[in-house]
Amino acid sequence: MAERITRVNGPLPGPRGAELLKEWHRYEADTTGFQAPVVWDSASGVIVTDVDGNRYIDWTSGVLVTNIGHCHPALVKAVQGAVARLINNYECPTEARVRAARDLVNHLPGHLDRCFFMTTGSEATEACTRIMKRKTGCFEVIGFHGGFHGRTYAGASVGGMTGPKRGYGPTMPGVIRVPYPYPYRSSVGGGDAGLVDYCMTMLEEAVRANSTGSLAGLLVEPYLGAAGFIFPPDGYLPALEAWARQKGILFALDEVQSSYGRTGTMWAMEHENLTPDLVAIGKGIGCGIPTAAIAARREVVGVLGKGEMSSTVGGNPVSSTAVSAILKVMDGENLVANGVKIGAILKKRLLEIQDRSRYLGDVRGRGMVMGLELVTNKTTKEPAPDLTKQLICRCAEYGLLIGSVGIYGNVIRVAPPLVMNEAEAHESLDIMERALLSLQD
Ligand SMILES: Cc1ncc(COP(=O)(O)O)c(C=O)c1O
Repeated sequence: MAERITRVNGPLPGPRGAELLKEWHRYEADTTGFQAPVVWDSASGVIVTDVDGNRYIDWTSGVLVTNIGHCHPALVKAVQGAVARLINNYECPTEARVRAARDLVNHLPGHLDRCFFMTTGSEATEACTRIMKRKTGCFEVIGFHGGFHGRTYAGASVGGMTGPKRGYGPTMPGVIRVPYPYPYRSSVGGGDAGLVDYCMTMLEEAVRANSTGSLAGLLVEPYLGAAGFIFPPDGYLPALEAWARQKGILFALDEVQSSYGRTGTMWAMEHENLTPDLVAIGKGIGCGIPTAAIAARREVVGVLGKGEMSSTVGGNPVSSTAVSAILKVMDGENLVANGVKIGAILKKRLLEIQDRSRYLGDVRGRGMVMGLELVTNKTTKEPAPDLTKQLICRCAEYGLLIGSVGIYGNVIRVAPPLVMNEAEAHESLDIMERALLSLQD
């Protein structure tokens, strides 16, 4: 029998973890979301070791960040070299920055021929809304119920989650929010096609009722991430793009989390041959080295003149070096294809586990990104956020790190690094199965 990869000795947190958690809350504001009480020490590939020496398999990739695996040796080496040579400059090109821009553009669909480097995904979505406005001279932006584009002003405003907005007063004027398909919870008849038609009709009606005639563009995620890994039916995104083209507005895609092989293609836009005018990129582009970017058509981003877009550490030599090193690893190790292979193993077994679990209402997603929606009752679909928290802790006790998202806080993210192998996939599935079924005891 193969040796177990994971090992958890005793209850969590372990003694050193407990000390650090206590100290953490004494000094840093306690504003982060619910997590299992695990204090990470080191990680390699998909294996995480905590400060008490416990070993886990990671289904989080941070938060869909470390697509090439934690601390990939090639990335570590490249970044160490870059740090020793030149950590920062501002706005001047370096060899690393020129190479990173070339490498990124060469990995993008052909129509996206310019990029610009930033630091966070929020900064990139913020930039998308600004460019939309400058390019069109209009100010209205269409966003989506359940959309998440970060916690900055435009990102939170265009998004359709209450969390980033509640308690902060009026949001950005001109945002028109419309429904996004949520197949598992849809009561619209006619299957996928009916749901797409319904959402397109609601879009048209919302614009008719709310627009002052100043539409600049729409910003949409290829699947709703924070809202619960909600994937729209095929045909919806192309319908949105066609609608935007017909209205003469810009079509911007938030690929902050859906890119870098997550969905089984390098970019989620490739599944249905979307040709967005603007794309926000984050997370996997830096695999933990703070980096983000926008990609655009030259004529779109060209509306900005010299000095009109900058970012203090965006495109610095260290993050630029990371951008190129990561793309090289993705190509060299065929990580997109590995994600497709391992994702299929995960999905198949998760669907089998769903049949045996009283609480696993929905298994959805593609490639290496899936959502497990927990409900107290599969017929009424009552969300089960408390059970979700229990499952997070139970999985950690058994050696698997997971996190939750969702409008109702009841969706487990299945998003391991793309380097996962079959043994790691099966051991982690065994843990998930055991943990889920143990909730029924
Ligand atoms: C789709 C999407 N857009 C934007 C963001 C914001 O990125 P960041 O946290 O790097 O600012 C996130 C973060 O989770 C995201 O998932």
